[in-house]
Amino acid sequence: MKKKLLSLMVLFCSLTGYAQNTGKLNAPSDPNLKISRHIYGHFAEHLGRSIYGGFYVGEDNTKIPNTNGVRNDVVEALKTLKVPNLRWPGGCFADTYHWKDGIGPKDQRPTIVNSWWGGVTENNSFGTHDFLNMCELLGAEPYLAGNMATGLVQELSDWVQYVNFAGDSPMSKLRRENGRDKPWNVKFWGIGNEAWGCGGNMAPDYYANEYRKYATFVADWDNSGGLFRIASGANSADYNWTEVLMKNIPKNLIEGVALHHYSVIDWNKKGPTRGFSEEQYFKTMKSALFMEELINKHTAIMEKYDPQHKVALVVDEWGGWYDVEPGTNPGFLYQQNTMRDAMIAGATLNIFNNHCDRVKMANLAQAINVLQAVILTEDEKMLLTPTYHVMEMYNVHQDATFLPLELKSADFTFGNEKLPAVSGSASRDQQGVTHITLTNIDPKKSNQISIDVQGSKFKSVSGRILASKSIQDYNSFDNPNKIKPANFKGAKLRGNNLNVELPPFSVVVLELK
Ligand code: AHR
Repeated sequence: MKKKLLSLMVLFCSLTGYAQNTGKLNAPSDPNLKISRHIYGHFAEHLGRSIYGGFYVGEDNTKIPNTNGVRNDVVEALKTLKVPNLRWPGGCFADTYHWKDGIGPKDQRPTIVNSWWGGVTENNSFGTHDFLNMCELLGAEPYLAGNMATGLVQELSDWVQYVNFAGDSPMSKLRRENGRDKPWNVKFWGIGNEAWGCGGNMAPDYYANEYRKYATFVADWDNSGGLFRIASGANSADYNWTEVLMKNIPKNLIEGVALHHYSVIDWNKKGPTRGFSEEQYFKTMKSALFMEELINKHTAIMEKYDPQHKVALVVDEWGGWYDVEPGTNPGFLYQQNTMRDAMIAGATLNIFNNHCDRVKMANLAQAINVLQAVILTEDEKMLLTPTYHVMEMYNVHQDATFLPLELKSADFTFGNEKLPAVSGSASRDQQGVTHITLTNIDPKKSNQISIDVQGSKFKSVSGRILASKSIQDYNSFDNPNKIKPANFKGAKLRGNNLNVELPPFSVVVLELK
């Protein structure tokens, strides 16, 4: 009888285009395990129109409202997003950046050539004070990426002293001369970036040795025990990199090891941002979902050398990477942002949340006008991308208690290949409200999901959804609000059962009370 019912259901689902999924919401595995808010971090590099025109338009700009040169519209949007941390000044740029070029009177700052990104002239008008004051404005913690490829240990050590030392020292004196009395107390420090590539093409054991030297002098000048040093991590599936770093770097010198992974189809044939094919969509999502395997394998290595979980996995570059928008500078990495990007964001953030025992920080690449941006600007115009909306919907998880959500998902198939269509994650916030985020990446099929909430005694469910007519849709400067979250009516509570109907390529956040 049961079998008959099941096959009838399968027949019904395949005829109607619905796929059936099941889930179970568990009690916290560890009541102290939180989804770190820093998983929702961002990244701002001196690249294309990220800083200049994106964040910063200059103090003298009368056309675009700004505070000390930083766009007010951007500040408001990023405050709503609850940006917990912002990584700067790179990326590859970080290993060419000499921070002393960016302090002092702006008209006396030297110009340099941004050799990684378009060969443009950089006038250093946005420097350390500008960035750290902007972080204060945003309520975000700064994450400074230090130069270890073309900068000496002394230079990095001086930077730490310049921004963090409260007492009297040559560097704190210089800071005060430049108008800032109190230190900013920067906690997050990257020691180099992509040391296996643009950061010096180093071998892992060589980098590990260099790291030990540099990290020794990224010191806590006030002895408050608060610095968080992040080693330049593996390129995607380079597990040997993580192995060598975890083996060779003493645990008293490291708080985080990075990982970079972009959702890219093929580095030599990335495909268009807009007007992508079904195959290209599938391949992008395959690359995005590969994050799960990457985290499992890198954390298994970390577990071997650090079973106490002292060292965090920091995915400080992730996101979709396509061909630049036609007609734009190839070195500026400017791309539009479609519902495909919303799918990458929703699925990837679920993966990070579900690995919050080791993933303590992540940074979407990048915040404005570069790669998978949350904001695009065009002179005085600004728009919020579908990715922005996903990150805003998911911010309910920031610092909330992690609730394990077991899901059995239907497949999203293309040719002979398949991916799980539905992903999800859950948490309980400080007010006792439970949130579940779900993403259905299937571009054609709705997915029904039945979640056993196991006696949680919820009285109500409400939600919001991000969806659109076509997976190709995006917000443009002519139609900036085409895609935005709407109220969601597709979730019903019946006793212990939460039933959710997810439309094709949609992201949903549910609130259960
Ligand atoms: O985010 C763009 C670039 O991608 C970064 O500068 C670099 O670290 C990575 O290769």
